[in-house]
Amino acid sequence: MSPLNLAGSSRRDTHVKVLSVTSGKGGVGKTNIVANLAYALCERGLNVLVLDADLGLGNIDVLLGLNPALTLQDCLRGDATLQEILITGPGGMRILPAPSGLAELTHLSEADRLRFLAGLDELDEPVDVFIIDTGAGIAANVCFFSMAAQEICVVATPEPTSLTDAYAFIKVMSRQYGEKEFKLIVNQASGEREALSVFRHLTTVCDRFLTIRLELAGFVPHDDKLARAVRDQQLVTERYPEAISSRHFRELAKEIDRSPASMFPKGNIQFFWRRLWTPEAAGPAL
Ligand SMILES: Nc1ncnc2c1ncn2[C@@H]1O[C@H](COP(=O)(O)OP(=O)(O)OP(=O)(O)O)[C@@H](O)[C@H]1O
Ligand SMILES: [Mg+2]
Repeated sequence: MSPLNLAGSSRRDTHVKVLSVTSGKGGVGKTNIVANLAYALCERGLNVLVLDADLGLGNIDVLLGLNPALTLQDCLRGDATLQEILITGPGGMRILPAPSGLAELTHLSEADRLRFLAGLDELDEPVDVFIIDTGAGIAANVCFFSMAAQEICVVATPEPTSLTDAYAFIKVMSRQYGEKEFKLIVNQASGEREALSVFRHLTTVCDRFLTIRLELAGFVPHDDKLARAVRDQQLVTERYPEAISSRHFRELAKEIDRSPASMFPKGNIQFFWRRLWTPEAAGPAL
């Protein structure tokens, strides 16, 4: 497949879409969803920036067979800028890689987080879609990175433990952080029927105990080709573009591309706050 990035030609530079991909339970497929979705969005000609925010156990670079010389750890120590650690992955996606096996990074200080947000805003990169792989669970970093995104995509599989943990994550984000809207991506479903049943199940529990809105963003079926691509450190969307999961990733990417970017920041803490703060969002000039 040809290189996909249209260099320097951001279509909607000021209206960057920011999605966090997160889950209650680990190992449900977040990193694969982030990387394949990013690739499918690049195929559509969008400029995609991926943040590996699983700061203690980051592994997008491993999934992609890349070997970054610098990671977010170097930035947080003040030894490199975000621009310097950026690497290019398949399809032209740009990636901010995380270190792996560093317990101290699993809990960033408030100052580090704010410095990081400010640094991102200053990146000299065209970005249409910014996707964050947050890591699993309800640790402070995960909640922070989710809160700073416009859309929180929760990944769950049909396994009961995954559903319970997805609910626990949504509960914490809604009760402690005031988040009211979530998107669900069902991974490893046998088909649409099972994906809908997972969605209904979670919606029923959320409706009973929380005041939130959950939307089904899409689903990705179980696919042996995806597992095979992982073993070869390649993306299924690149290696097996006709595989069933690749088709679903392209479908998800189409939905994201079509959905309007929010012009309004959700709160004070927000990725690309400045790019979101457009004249329209500020209201009519007096
Ligand atoms: N749709 C799928 N079909 C088949 N296998 C899958 C699918 N999605 C994920 N997997 C398998 O699950 C494994 C874990 O996926 P992944 O690393 O993306 O999960 P994760 O949620 O990012 O995990 P962690 O919480 O540890 O970061 C993959 O290596 C792959 O083998
Ligand atoms: Mg992961």
